[in-house]
Amino acid sequence: MSRLTEKRIILGVTGGIAAYKACDLTRQLIRAGACVRVVMTRAATSFVAPLTFQALSGNQVHLDLLDTEEESAMGHIRLARWADLILVAPATADFMARLRAGSAGELLDAVCLAAEVPVALAPAMNRAMWYNPATQENAAILAERRVHLLGPDKGMQACGESGFGRMMEPIELCQALEAIFTEKTLAGCSVLVSAGPTRESLDPVRYLTNRSSGKMGYALAQAAINAGAKVTLVSGPVLLEPPKEAIVVKVETAADMFNSVIGLASGHDIYIGTAAVADYTPAQVEEGKIKKHDEALTILLNRTRDILSAVAGLPSRPFTVGFAAETGHLEAHAKEKLESKGLDMIAANWVGQPEGGFDRDENALWVCWPGGEKYLPMASKQNIAIQLIELISENYSAQKNTT
Ligand code: C5P
Repeated sequence: MSRLTEKRIILGVTGGIAAYKACDLTRQLIRAGACVRVVMTRAATSFVAPLTFQALSGNQVHLDLLDTEEESAMGHIRLARWADLILVAPATADFMARLRAGSAGELLDAVCLAAEVPVALAPAMNRAMWYNPATQENAAILAERRVHLLGPDKGMQACGESGFGRMMEPIELCQALEAIFTEKTLAGCSVLVSAGPTRESLDPVRYLTNRSSGKMGYALAQAAINAGAKVTLVSGPVLLEPPKEAIVVKVETAADMFNSVIGLASGHDIYIGTAAVADYTPAQVEEGKIKKHDEALTILLNRTRDILSAVAGLPSRPFTVGFAAETGHLEAHAKEKLESKGLDMIAANWVGQPEGGFDRDENALWVCWPGGEKYLPMASKQNIAIQLIELISENYSAQKNTT
């Protein structure tokens, strides 16, 4: 289940070229389980036909403030009361100026003015228009009034110029809305997450690694941010974009990861070790490329140091959560690790199965802690991350309250 499931969202579309991206945004919101009603300004209808949004949202599109049928029942107030959140995407410079001024001449403006629920804007405009002091002042005042400003992003613009002013991508906007709807159970907490694989060099061109994609760790970092935490992400080499709000430390080897995590752990309230750290590293890294011969090659591997146990053994240790990837006897192995590594919680998952585990988009976890356990059935890693962060915050708070 996504945080957007059954949420009633008014999607306001104003007259900018990024209006075409609002079509995809509508689909993604619907896919996440939200109920979407689209309100378009007159200018927006010059870019995209209302029928497109009607088909995508499954609801009639609202256009006119002076629609006599709707307004006989105070349509703009009814719409504002129906919604759990209003997102205006794209929000033009003109719309931002109108919202700041409290204008109510268009249906969307009137709905925003009457709103008692969170209002979010995804600004989209030419970079010079965005940086114009008038727009900057409007943005600052709207932010002061607790309007959520999502973006804009930097990049190539429809006008051919490049810079800040691009509308955030629909997927990122959905994530930002999820964050708005998330209870801030980790407000004031700092969370350190390790993620991804490590690479252990054999020679200048070869290394030993594993199938970890980093998806679980990155999803946990995002879920912790959404729950209000300050997050530091120590990441092995992965092909993922880290959450914008995270402090990211990039590492390559198990030894690099050990040093970074141990250096940071005591300064954090919670450590979540999702990284698939190499258990062995070549005893020696050859200076030149290893040449092939006819006979078999033997490589001596040394044990790496266990980061998780070292964190759990620190004098001022954070609440420590480990992961266990198992191919069999999952619960017994996980319980044994919880105890032997001195952890506060362990999340175990099956690997080598058709679903879930390494390099997949879904996962299922069996989570256990001293005195409790919970099974989180197969779901997207984002969803599993939300549930695991909930369990972590409950147990972390319980532990804090008893000490
Ligand atoms: O003992 P095992 O490697 O199965 O335990 C997995 C857990 O231990 C994961 O949370 C992983 O991040 C952590 N780990 C570690 N340092 C290692 C090996 C594993 O922190 N060298």
